[in-house]
Amino acid sequence: MNTSYTEKVYNFYSTVYDFVFGPSLETGRKVAVDLLEPKPYEKILEVGVGTGLSVPYFPRGTAIVGVDLSQKMLDVAAKKMEKLGRSNVELLTMDASHMDFPDDSFDAAAALYCLSCVENPVQVLREMKRVVRPGGRLVFMNHFQSTNKTMAFMEKAVTPIAKRIGFRTDLKLSPLLRKAEMTDCQTVNADPFGVYKAVRVAV
Ligand SMILES: C[S@@+](CC[C@H](N)C(=O)[O-])C[C@H]1O[C@@H](n2cnc3c(N)ncnc32)[C@H](O)[C@@H]1O
Repeated sequence: MNTSYTEKVYNFYSTVYDFVFGPSLETGRKVAVDLLEPKPYEKILEVGVGTGLSVPYFPRGTAIVGVDLSQKMLDVAAKKMEKLGRSNVELLTMDASHMDFPDDSFDAAAALYCLSCVENPVQVLREMKRVVRPGGRLVFMNHFQSTNKTMAFMEKAVTPIAKRIGFRTDLKLSPLLRKAEMTDCQTVNADPFGVYKAVRVAV
């Protein structure tokens, strides 16, 4: 799943994304933003912001910078921000694994339903950590491969098909944290069954 393929897939989804993945994935967005504890005076980065469905959960005063590979997803987000009257949301086309921001640019960063869609999730987490100031925090919320062996087998088996439609189902949490050198972490279930988990990391 390379970046240009992902970009094409999400450009294609952009017009129906909110209908298909809006209400169905709302709970996780709220859990993740609550875990991030954004303050109205902070500057926060969201990578893979997509159509901006998380924005209503942030305090109105929070300055949000949302980056995404897909310009068409961002176009939908821009219209939504206008309707919501959120003029302090900046939307930028950017690859989250190589961001243009200097070190320590943000108070916090979030990635919601994003890490399973990126080519290199470890690199994206490293980049998020780099651009957050010391003392800040990261939250990422995603589906991770089950610790149940049968489920894990099935998730791995369907990944080649899932990748064709823009995500993977076999992302493992523990190796991800280890490779991204993230140690001070808190993990919570982002839905009643723990299908999605939100992870907060102290920077
Ligand atoms: C499943 S959508 C999630 C969108 C949004 N966060 C939400 O809660 O609905 C994943 C998003 O990640 C974006 N994405 C994938 N790879 C990316 C990358 N390397 N850099 C930035 N965005 C990326 C996709 O374009 C897509 O908009």
